[in-house]
Amino acid sequence: MSTLRKDTVLLTGASGGFGIEFAVQLEQLGYRLLLHGRDRARLQMTLNVLKRPQDHKLIMAELSSRKFMEDLIEEVKQEQHLVGLINNAGFGLWGGFERSESVPQLDVIRTDLLAPVAITHALIPQLIRHHGFIINVSSLAGESPLPYMSTYAAAKAGLTYWSEALRAELKGKIRVVTLAPGPSPTGFRKISGAPTGKGGRFRSTAQTVVSAALETLKNGGGYCVPGIRHRLLWLLQKAVPRSLALNVMARYLKP
Ligand SMILES: NC(=O)c1ccc[n+]([C@@H]2O[C@H](COP(=O)([O-])OP(=O)(O)OC[C@H]3O[C@@H](n4cnc5c(N)ncnc54)[C@H](OP(=O)(O)O)[C@@H]3O)[C@@H](O)[C@H]2O)c1
Repeated sequence: MSTLRKDTVLLTGASGGFGIEFAVQLEQLGYRLLLHGRDRARLQMTLNVLKRPQDHKLIMAELSSRKFMEDLIEEVKQEQHLVGLINNAGFGLWGGFERSESVPQLDVIRTDLLAPVAITHALIPQLIRHHGFIINVSSLAGESPLPYMSTYAAAKAGLTYWSEALRAELKGKIRVVTLAPGPSPTGFRKISGAPTGKGGRFRSTAQTVVSAALETLKNGGGYCVPGIRHRLLWLLQKAVPRSLALNVMARYLKP
């Protein structure tokens, strides 16, 4: 596809597992990318796997910090052809809530919920002007309370509900995808501190997840649970009563 195309997409969390895959697939679709991360060296690795690194731009920002997030917003507001926003950056923490530090727990909510809401609110005039799109990377963790990852599940539940409401509000103006993946082999598990084996049976690749999100976008937007394994997990979440699920998950995830 033409390298002259100026349609630009802001992709947060471009240095991680889903982020790299989004970058690769979006570049194949011809977009120019604003690749966000916190670490230049890690972002450079994303750039290195792209075909037209000279077309794209790196933006560094710690999204749990209001100041750095606002700096990012100001920078992206200068873009002339912003057509897409992918709120992908996020992390979770595994462990007993009463034994954890308060600040990291709040940082999960700041990064996974407050930052997407604030960034979207600031950029929505540009996105509407260009009949653009938003992909909010939520999680199946937002479909049911999760003992020992309580704050992460709460942030993702908030993100899913907000994203779905937005999708209805903005129908006909911009396309919105609410992406709700289950376990996938990215850096997420290591950063959360959760044991690697948990949820292994339901694991899907980043490629499956991102392809499903972009297919949903192509079809006009929607709620997307990607791939057969994640859909199976989602059906289980719907079928099992909450009281039973809470007991099972508390035993399964207990440190
Ligand atoms: N993998 C899964 O099993 C899974 C399942 C469902 C949903 N998700 C969601 O998918 C999204 C992408 O995660 P991933 O699986 O690709 O994990 P990942 O490999 O750990 O990538 C996470 C990305 O988010 C960035 N990030 C994390 N905390 C940040 C902060 N405070 N400020 C700015 N950027 C931050 C990271 O930047 P650095 O490189 O600088 O750390 C990285 O680019 C997340 O929202 C996650 O919740 C993941």
